[in-house]
Amino acid sequence: MSRCPYFEKKHLLFKNKPSTEESQDASQAGGEGSKGRIIYGDYLQLDKITTAQVLQSELQGNKIHDEHLFIVTHQAYELWFKQILFEIDSVREIFISGHVRDERNMLKVNTRIHRIVMIFRLLVDQFAVLETMTALDFFDFRKYLMSASGFESLQFRLLENKIGVQDNLRVPYNRRHYKDYIKGDETETLLDAEQEPTLLKLVEEWLERTPGLEVDGFNFWERLEINIFDGLNVEEKKIEKMPESEEKEKLMAELVKQREHFTSLFDEKRHDHLVSKGERRLSYKALQGALMIYFYREEPRFQVPFQLLTSLMDMDNLMTKWRYNHVCIVHRMIGSKAGTGGSSGYHYLRSTVSDRYKVFVDLFNLATFLVPRHWVPKLNPNVHTFLYMAECCDSSYCSSEDSD
Ligand code: HEM
Repeated sequence: MSRCPYFEKKHLLFKNKPSTEESQDASQAGGEGSKGRIIYGDYLQLDKITTAQVLQSELQGNKIHDEHLFIVTHQAYELWFKQILFEIDSVREIFISGHVRDERNMLKVNTRIHRIVMIFRLLVDQFAVLETMTALDFFDFRKYLMSASGFESLQFRLLENKIGVQDNLRVPYNRRHYKDYIKGDETETLLDAEQEPTLLKLVEEWLERTPGLEVDGFNFWERLEINIFDGLNVEEKKIEKMPESEEKEKLMAELVKQREHFTSLFDEKRHDHLVSKGERRLSYKALQGALMIYFYREEPRFQVPFQLLTSLMDMDNLMTKWRYNHVCIVHRMIGSKAGTGGSSGYHYLRSTVSDRYKVFVDLFNLATFLVPRHWVPKLNPNVHTFLYMAECCDSSYCSSEDSD
Protein backbone atom coordinates (compact mmCIF):
# COMPACT_ATOMS: atom_id res chain seq x y z
CA MET A 1 0.00 0.00 0.00
CA SER A 2 1.49 3.37 -0.99
CA ARG A 3 1.88 5.92 1.77
CA CYS A 4 -0.31 8.96 1.86
CA PRO A 5 1.67 11.99 0.58
CA TYR A 6 -0.41 14.37 2.67
CA PHE A 7 0.48 12.38 5.76
CA GLU A 8 4.17 12.69 4.95
CA LYS A 9 3.92 16.38 4.20
CA LYS A 10 2.03 17.07 7.34
CA HIS A 11 4.68 15.32 9.35
CA LEU A 12 7.55 17.33 7.93
CA LEU A 13 7.00 19.29 11.06
CA PHE A 14 8.09 16.30 13.07
CA LYS A 15 11.68 15.21 13.40
CA ASN A 16 12.41 11.58 12.51
CA LYS A 17 11.90 9.17 15.31
CA PRO A 18 15.07 9.32 17.36
CA SER A 19 17.28 6.23 17.82
CA THR A 20 17.05 4.39 21.13
CA GLU A 21 20.23 6.08 22.24
CA GLU A 22 18.96 9.51 21.32
CA SER A 23 15.69 8.84 23.00
CA GLN A 24 17.47 7.82 26.18
CA ASP A 25 19.42 11.08 26.05
CA ALA A 26 16.21 12.93 25.49
CA SER A 27 14.55 11.30 28.45
CA GLN A 28 17.55 12.24 30.56
CA ALA A 29 17.12 15.82 29.37
CA GLY A 30 13.56 15.56 30.57
CA GLY A 31 11.78 17.34 27.67
CA GLU A 32 11.21 15.15 24.61
CA GLY A 33 9.08 12.07 24.16
CA SER A 34 10.28 8.87 22.47
CA LYS A 35 7.96 9.09 19.43
CA GLY A 36 9.66 11.99 17.62
CA ARG A 37 8.90 15.54 18.42
CA ILE A 38 7.51 18.70 17.06
CA ILE A 39 9.69 21.76 17.20
CA TYR A 40 8.13 24.74 18.96
CA GLY A 41 9.13 27.24 16.28
CA ASP A 42 7.94 25.00 13.42
CA TYR A 43 4.62 24.31 15.08
CA LEU A 44 3.93 28.02 15.47
CA GLN A 45 5.52 28.89 12.12
CA LEU A 46 7.52 31.52 13.91
CA ASP A 47 9.83 31.89 10.95
CA LYS A 48 6.90 33.53 9.12
CA ILE A 49 5.60 35.56 12.02
CA THR A 50 8.87 36.93 13.35
CA THR A 51 10.20 37.89 9.95
CA ALA A 52 7.06 39.77 8.96
CA GLN A 53 8.12 43.09 10.50
CA VAL A 54 9.46 45.01 7.53
CA LEU A 55 10.06 48.63 8.44
CA GLN A 56 9.31 50.89 5.50
CA SER A 57 11.51 53.55 7.06
CA GLU A 58 14.46 51.13 7.05
CA LEU A 59 13.82 50.18 3.43
CA GLN A 60 13.98 53.87 2.59
CA GLY A 61 17.31 54.15 4.42
CA ASN A 62 16.00 56.07 7.42
CA LYS A 63 15.19 53.46 10.12
CA ILE A 64 12.76 54.82 12.70
CA HIS A 65 12.74 52.80 15.92
CA ASP A 66 9.01 53.08 16.76
CA GLU A 67 7.81 51.78 13.42
CA HIS A 68 8.61 48.30 14.76
CA LEU A 69 6.13 48.75 17.61
CA PHE A 70 3.55 50.16 15.20
CA ILE A 71 3.78 47.07 12.98
CA VAL A 72 3.78 44.52 15.82
CA THR A 73 0.76 46.20 17.44
CA HIS A 74 -1.26 46.05 14.23
CA GLN A 75 -0.24 42.45 13.63
CA ALA A 76 -1.24 41.46 17.17
CA TYR A 77 -4.64 43.11 16.62
CA GLU A 78 -5.11 41.26 13.34
CA LEU A 79 -4.24 37.92 14.97
CA TRP A 80 -6.82 38.49 17.68
CA PHE A 81 -9.37 39.57 15.02
CA LYS A 82 -8.68 36.21 13.42
CA GLN A 83 -9.40 34.35 16.66
CA ILE A 84 -12.61 36.34 17.16
CA LEU A 85 -13.75 35.48 13.63
CA PHE A 86 -12.95 31.83 14.31
CA GLU A 87 -15.15 31.86 17.42
CA ILE A 88 -17.98 33.81 15.74
CA ASP A 89 -18.02 31.38 12.82
CA SER A 90 -18.18 28.41 15.17
CA VAL A 91 -21.04 29.93 17.15
CA ARG A 92 -22.93 30.80 13.97
CA GLU A 93 -22.43 27.23 12.82
CA ILE A 94 -23.98 25.87 16.03
CA PHE A 95 -27.03 28.07 15.44
CA ILE A 96 -27.25 27.36 11.70
CA SER A 97 -26.98 23.58 12.10
CA GLY A 98 -29.82 23.66 14.62
CA HIS A 99 -27.62 22.24 17.39
CA VAL A 100 -28.79 25.03 19.57
CA ARG A 101 -32.14 23.28 19.82
CA ASP A 102 -30.36 20.97 22.19
CA GLU A 103 -30.14 23.43 25.03
CA ARG A 104 -27.03 21.79 26.43
CA ASN A 105 -25.14 23.31 23.50
CA MET A 106 -25.95 26.76 24.83
CA LEU A 107 -23.08 26.40 27.25
CA LYS A 108 -20.68 26.06 24.32
CA VAL A 109 -22.19 29.13 22.65
CA ASN A 110 -21.89 31.05 25.88
CA THR A 111 -18.31 30.03 26.52
CA ARG A 112 -17.22 31.12 23.06
CA ILE A 113 -19.02 34.46 23.17
CA HIS A 114 -17.52 35.03 26.60
CA ARG A 115 -14.09 34.26 25.12
CA ILE A 116 -14.69 36.93 22.47
CA VAL A 117 -15.57 39.36 25.24
CA MET A 118 -12.29 38.58 27.01
CA ILE A 119 -10.31 39.12 23.80
CA PHE A 120 -12.03 42.44 23.22
CA ARG A 121 -11.10 43.52 26.74
CA LEU A 122 -7.50 42.85 25.83
CA LEU A 123 -7.82 44.74 22.54
CA VAL A 124 -9.32 47.76 24.25
CA ASP A 125 -6.38 47.91 26.69
CA GLN A 126 -3.72 47.13 24.12
CA PHE A 127 -3.77 50.70 22.75
CA ALA A 128 -1.90 51.69 25.93
CA VAL A 129 1.26 50.03 24.58
CA LEU A 130 1.07 51.99 21.34
CA GLU A 131 0.50 55.16 23.32
CA THR A 132 4.08 54.91 24.59
CA MET A 133 4.95 56.25 21.14
CA THR A 134 4.81 60.04 20.92
CA ALA A 135 3.13 61.98 18.12
CA LEU A 136 6.56 63.15 16.97
CA ASP A 137 7.90 59.58 16.83
CA PHE A 138 4.88 58.67 14.70
CA PHE A 139 5.35 61.73 12.52
CA ASP A 140 8.88 60.53 11.76
CA PHE A 141 7.69 57.47 9.85
CA ARG A 142 4.07 58.27 8.97
CA LYS A 143 5.00 59.44 5.46
CA TYR A 144 6.29 55.95 4.66
CA LEU A 145 2.82 54.46 5.23
CA MET A 146 1.58 56.35 2.15
CA SER A 147 -2.12 55.50 1.71
CA ALA A 148 -2.11 52.35 3.90
CA SER A 149 -4.75 52.53 6.62
CA GLY A 150 -6.55 50.33 9.15
CA PHE A 151 -9.60 51.34 7.17
CA GLU A 152 -8.60 48.66 4.68
CA SER A 153 -8.58 45.88 7.31
CA LEU A 154 -10.57 43.03 5.80
CA GLN A 155 -10.84 41.16 9.08
CA PHE A 156 -12.24 44.17 10.90
CA ARG A 157 -14.99 44.55 8.27
CA LEU A 158 -15.74 40.82 8.35
CA LEU A 159 -16.02 41.02 12.09
CA GLU A 160 -18.44 43.95 11.99
CA ASN A 161 -20.51 42.30 9.26
CA LYS A 162 -20.65 38.85 10.80
CA ILE A 163 -21.82 40.25 14.11
CA GLY A 164 -24.41 42.36 12.29
CA VAL A 165 -23.40 46.01 11.89
CA GLN A 166 -26.08 47.33 9.56
CA ASP A 167 -24.77 48.55 6.23
CA ASN A 168 -27.12 51.51 5.83
CA LEU A 169 -26.27 52.79 9.30
CA ARG A 170 -22.55 53.09 8.63
CA VAL A 171 -21.05 56.56 8.54
CA PRO A 172 -20.07 57.32 4.91
CA TYR A 173 -16.35 57.68 4.37
CA ASN A 174 -15.32 60.32 1.88
CA ARG A 175 -18.87 59.94 0.56
CA ARG A 176 -17.88 56.45 -0.58
CA HIS A 177 -18.62 52.97 0.68
CA TYR A 178 -15.91 51.19 2.66
CA LYS A 179 -16.08 48.30 0.18
CA ASP A 180 -14.61 50.57 -2.51
CA TYR A 181 -11.40 50.50 -0.50
CA ILE A 182 -11.17 46.71 -0.28
CA LYS A 183 -9.35 45.24 -3.23
CA GLY A 184 -9.13 42.04 -5.33
CA ASP A 185 -9.90 38.68 -3.73
CA GLU A 186 -10.77 40.41 -0.49
CA THR A 187 -13.90 41.91 -2.07
CA GLU A 188 -15.12 38.43 -2.90
CA THR A 189 -14.49 37.22 0.67
CA LEU A 190 -16.45 40.19 1.95
CA LEU A 191 -19.35 39.65 -0.47
CA ASP A 192 -19.48 35.92 0.35
CA ALA A 193 -19.64 36.68 4.06
CA GLU A 194 -22.53 39.09 3.44
CA GLN A 195 -24.64 36.20 2.16
CA GLU A 196 -24.32 34.34 5.48
CA PRO A 197 -26.70 34.98 8.36
CA THR A 198 -25.29 37.39 10.94
CA LEU A 199 -24.96 36.56 14.62
CA LEU A 200 -27.75 39.09 15.23
CA LYS A 201 -30.10 37.27 12.85
CA LEU A 202 -29.36 33.89 14.40
CA VAL A 203 -29.83 35.16 17.93
CA GLU A 204 -33.08 36.75 16.78
CA GLU A 205 -34.41 33.43 15.46
CA TRP A 206 -33.37 31.71 18.67
CA LEU A 207 -35.11 34.34 20.82
CA GLU A 208 -38.29 33.97 18.77
CA ARG A 209 -38.50 30.38 20.01
CA THR A 210 -38.32 31.32 23.70
CA PRO A 211 -40.54 28.85 25.57
CA GLY A 212 -43.50 30.61 27.16
CA LEU A 213 -44.27 32.94 24.24
CA GLU A 214 -46.79 30.53 22.70
CA VAL A 215 -50.15 32.28 22.29
CA ASP A 216 -51.95 29.00 23.00
CA GLY A 217 -49.71 28.32 25.99
CA PHE A 218 -48.42 30.61 28.73
CA ASN A 219 -48.82 33.59 26.37
CA PHE A 220 -46.33 35.74 28.25
CA TRP A 221 -46.81 38.84 26.10
CA GLU A 222 -50.56 39.16 26.55
CA ARG A 223 -50.31 38.50 30.28
CA LEU A 224 -47.57 41.09 30.62
CA GLU A 225 -49.62 43.70 28.76
CA ILE A 226 -52.64 43.09 31.00
CA ASN A 227 -50.54 43.25 34.18
CA ILE A 228 -48.71 46.42 33.16
CA PHE A 229 -51.88 48.36 32.29
CA ASP A 230 -53.64 47.06 35.43
CA GLY A 231 -50.61 48.20 37.42
CA LEU A 232 -50.67 51.64 35.79
CA ASN A 233 -54.40 51.98 36.52
CA VAL A 234 -53.82 51.17 40.20
CA GLU A 235 -51.04 53.79 40.30
CA GLU A 236 -53.35 56.34 38.67
CA LYS A 237 -56.05 55.76 41.27
CA LYS A 238 -53.53 56.24 44.06
CA ILE A 239 -52.34 59.53 42.57
CA GLU A 240 -55.92 60.74 42.05
CA LYS A 241 -56.58 60.34 45.78
CA MET A 242 -53.71 62.66 46.64
CA PRO A 243 -54.53 66.30 47.58
CA GLU A 244 -53.88 68.82 44.79
CA SER A 245 -50.19 69.72 44.79
CA GLU A 246 -47.19 70.19 42.54
CA GLU A 247 -46.06 66.70 43.52
CA LYS A 248 -49.38 65.21 42.36
CA GLU A 249 -49.08 66.96 38.98
CA LYS A 250 -45.55 65.70 38.58
CA LEU A 251 -46.53 62.11 39.36
CA MET A 252 -49.50 62.28 36.98
CA ALA A 253 -47.33 63.64 34.15
CA GLU A 254 -44.82 60.86 34.81
CA LEU A 255 -47.61 58.27 34.67
CA VAL A 256 -48.87 59.60 31.33
CA LYS A 257 -45.36 59.27 29.97
CA GLN A 258 -45.06 55.72 31.26
CA ARG A 259 -48.39 54.77 29.70
CA GLU A 260 -47.27 56.14 26.31
CA HIS A 261 -44.07 54.27 26.70
CA PHE A 262 -45.70 50.94 27.33
CA THR A 263 -48.36 51.55 24.69
CA SER A 264 -45.50 51.81 22.22
CA LEU A 265 -43.97 48.59 23.53
CA PHE A 266 -47.12 46.64 22.73
CA ASP A 267 -47.65 48.29 19.36
CA GLU A 268 -46.25 45.98 16.69
CA LYS A 269 -46.64 48.53 13.88
CA ARG A 270 -44.65 51.09 15.81
CA HIS A 271 -42.02 48.47 16.48
CA ASP A 272 -41.71 47.71 12.76
CA HIS A 273 -41.44 51.43 12.03
CA LEU A 274 -38.55 51.74 14.52
CA VAL A 275 -36.90 48.70 12.92
CA SER A 276 -37.17 50.36 9.50
CA LYS A 277 -35.40 53.43 10.92
CA GLY A 278 -32.66 51.25 12.44
CA GLU A 279 -33.62 52.28 15.98
CA ARG A 280 -34.61 48.72 16.83
CA ARG A 281 -32.89 45.71 15.34
CA LEU A 282 -34.69 42.64 16.69
CA SER A 283 -38.05 41.37 15.42
CA TYR A 284 -41.12 41.98 17.59
CA LYS A 285 -41.25 38.34 18.66
CA ALA A 286 -37.53 38.21 19.48
CA LEU A 287 -37.89 41.32 21.63
CA GLN A 288 -40.62 39.54 23.58
CA GLY A 289 -38.34 36.53 24.06
CA ALA A 290 -35.52 38.71 25.32
CA LEU A 291 -37.80 40.49 27.79
CA MET A 292 -39.13 37.17 29.02
CA ILE A 293 -35.57 35.92 29.63
CA TYR A 294 -34.83 39.15 31.52
CA PHE A 295 -37.82 38.75 33.80
CA TYR A 296 -37.44 35.03 34.52
CA ARG A 297 -33.63 34.92 34.43
CA GLU A 298 -33.49 33.06 37.76
CA GLU A 299 -35.43 30.08 36.35
CA PRO A 300 -32.98 27.26 35.58
CA ARG A 301 -33.81 27.15 31.88
CA PHE A 302 -33.23 30.85 31.40
CA GLN A 303 -29.99 31.25 33.35
CA VAL A 304 -27.64 30.41 30.49
CA PRO A 305 -29.70 32.40 27.93
CA PHE A 306 -29.59 35.39 30.28
CA GLN A 307 -25.82 35.09 30.53
CA LEU A 308 -25.63 34.97 26.75
CA LEU A 309 -27.66 38.17 26.39
CA THR A 310 -25.37 39.82 28.94
CA SER A 311 -22.25 38.73 27.03
CA LEU A 312 -23.68 40.01 23.75
CA MET A 313 -24.13 43.41 25.37
CA ASP A 314 -20.59 43.23 26.77
CA MET A 315 -19.32 42.51 23.29
CA ASP A 316 -21.16 45.50 21.84
CA ASN A 317 -19.93 47.73 24.66
CA LEU A 318 -16.35 46.67 24.17
CA MET A 319 -16.51 47.28 20.44
CA THR A 320 -17.68 50.80 21.20
CA LYS A 321 -14.84 51.15 23.71
CA TRP A 322 -12.40 49.89 21.07
CA ARG A 323 -13.65 52.58 18.68
CA TYR A 324 -13.35 55.17 21.43
CA ASN A 325 -9.80 54.21 22.45
CA HIS A 326 -8.79 54.08 18.80
CA VAL A 327 -10.15 57.56 18.15
CA CYS A 328 -8.31 58.84 21.24
CA ILE A 329 -4.97 57.54 20.02
CA VAL A 330 -5.67 58.97 16.56
CA HIS A 331 -6.38 62.38 18.09
CA ARG A 332 -3.19 62.17 20.13
CA MET A 333 -1.05 61.10 17.15
CA ILE A 334 -2.38 63.21 14.29
CA GLY A 335 -4.65 65.82 15.91
CA SER A 336 -7.27 66.72 13.31
CA LYS A 337 -5.16 66.01 10.24
CA ALA A 338 -6.62 63.78 7.51
CA GLY A 339 -5.95 60.03 7.77
CA THR A 340 -3.50 58.17 5.52
CA GLY A 341 -6.55 56.42 4.05
CA GLY A 342 -7.95 59.80 3.04
CA SER A 343 -10.74 60.31 5.60
CA SER A 344 -11.08 63.39 7.78
CA GLY A 345 -9.37 61.21 10.42
CA TYR A 346 -10.41 62.10 13.95
CA HIS A 347 -13.76 63.60 12.90
CA TYR A 348 -14.76 60.59 10.81
CA LEU A 349 -13.75 58.14 13.51
CA ARG A 350 -15.48 60.10 16.26
CA SER A 351 -18.78 59.78 14.40
CA THR A 352 -18.43 55.98 14.44
CA VAL A 353 -18.49 55.92 18.26
CA SER A 354 -22.26 55.79 18.24
CA ASP A 355 -25.31 53.58 18.68
CA ARG A 356 -25.48 53.24 14.89
CA TYR A 357 -22.75 50.63 15.23
CA LYS A 358 -24.32 48.85 18.21
CA VAL A 359 -25.71 45.55 17.02
CA PHE A 360 -27.59 44.40 20.12
CA VAL A 361 -28.94 47.84 20.91
CA ASP A 362 -32.41 46.40 21.76
CA LEU A 363 -30.94 44.44 24.65
CA PHE A 364 -29.69 47.68 26.20
CA ASN A 365 -33.03 49.37 25.63
CA LEU A 366 -34.91 46.57 27.38
CA ALA A 367 -33.97 48.12 30.70
CA THR A 368 -36.46 50.89 29.80
CA PHE A 369 -39.28 48.37 30.03
CA LEU A 370 -38.46 46.70 33.31
CA VAL A 371 -41.38 46.78 35.73
CA PRO A 372 -41.86 46.04 39.45
CA ARG A 373 -41.56 42.32 40.17
CA HIS A 374 -45.22 42.02 41.19
CA TRP A 375 -46.32 43.15 37.69
CA VAL A 376 -44.45 40.25 36.08
CA PRO A 377 -46.94 37.45 35.22
CA LYS A 378 -46.86 34.72 37.85
CA LEU A 379 -45.81 31.30 36.65
CA ASN A 380 -48.39 28.57 37.23
CA PRO A 381 -47.07 25.14 38.31
CA ASN A 382 -47.12 23.81 34.72
CA VAL A 383 -45.08 26.65 33.31
CA HIS A 384 -42.80 26.57 36.29
CA THR A 385 -42.06 22.93 35.56
CA PHE A 386 -41.16 23.47 31.92
CA LEU A 387 -38.81 26.24 32.90
CA TYR A 388 -36.93 23.58 34.84
CA MET A 389 -36.77 21.14 31.96
CA ALA A 390 -34.44 22.04 29.12
CA GLU A 391 -34.95 20.64 25.63
CA CYS A 392 -32.28 18.05 24.90
CA CYS A 393 -31.90 15.63 22.04
CA ASP A 394 -29.52 12.87 22.96
CA SER A 395 -28.57 11.97 19.41
CA SER A 396 -27.17 15.40 18.69
CA TYR A 397 -25.53 15.59 22.09
CA CYS A 398 -23.67 12.35 21.56
CA SER A 399 -22.80 12.68 17.88
CA SER A 400 -19.09 12.87 17.09
CA GLU A 401 -19.48 15.74 14.57
CA ASP A 402 -20.55 17.94 17.41
CA SER A 403 -17.72 17.12 19.75
CA ASP A 404 -15.20 19.87 19.00
C1 HEM B 1 -0.87 55.54 15.69
C2 HEM B 1 -1.97 54.82 15.75
C3 HEM B 1 -3.08 54.91 14.78
C4 HEM B 1 -3.47 55.95 13.99
C5 HEM B 1 -2.88 57.36 13.92
C6 HEM B 1 -4.60 55.50 13.24
C7 HEM B 1 -5.29 56.30 12.35
C8 HEM B 1 -6.46 55.94 11.71
C9 HEM B 1 -7.26 56.81 10.86
C10 HEM B 1 -6.97 58.28 10.60
C11 HEM B 1 -8.30 56.10 10.41
C12 HEM B 1 -9.42 56.59 9.49
C13 HEM B 1 -9.18 56.13 8.08
C14 HEM B 1 -8.09 56.92 7.40
O1 HEM B 1 -8.38 58.00 6.90
O2 HEM B 1 -6.96 56.43 7.37
C15 HEM B 1 -8.18 54.77 10.95
C16 HEM B 1 -9.09 53.74 10.73
C17 HEM B 1 -8.95 52.48 11.25
N1 HEM B 1 -7.90 52.01 12.01
FE1 HEM B 1 -6.41 53.10 12.80
N2 HEM B 1 -4.90 54.23 13.56
C18 HEM B 1 -3.98 53.81 14.50
C19 HEM B 1 -3.91 52.56 15.09
C20 HEM B 1 -4.70 51.49 14.74
C21 HEM B 1 -4.55 50.16 15.27
C22 HEM B 1 -3.52 49.69 16.29
C23 HEM B 1 -5.49 49.40 14.68
C24 HEM B 1 -5.68 47.93 14.91
C25 HEM B 1 -5.97 47.10 13.97
C26 HEM B 1 -6.26 50.25 13.78
C27 HEM B 1 -7.33 49.85 13.00
C28 HEM B 1 -8.13 50.70 12.28
C29 HEM B 1 -9.39 50.30 11.70
C30 HEM B 1 -10.04 48.93 11.77
C31 HEM B 1 -9.91 51.43 11.07
C32 HEM B 1 -11.27 51.54 10.39
C33 HEM B 1 -12.28 52.08 11.41
C34 HEM B 1 -13.64 52.43 10.82
O3 HEM B 1 -13.76 52.77 9.63
O4 HEM B 1 -14.63 52.36 11.58
N3 HEM B 1 -5.75 51.50 13.86
N4 HEM B 1 -7.05 54.70 11.73
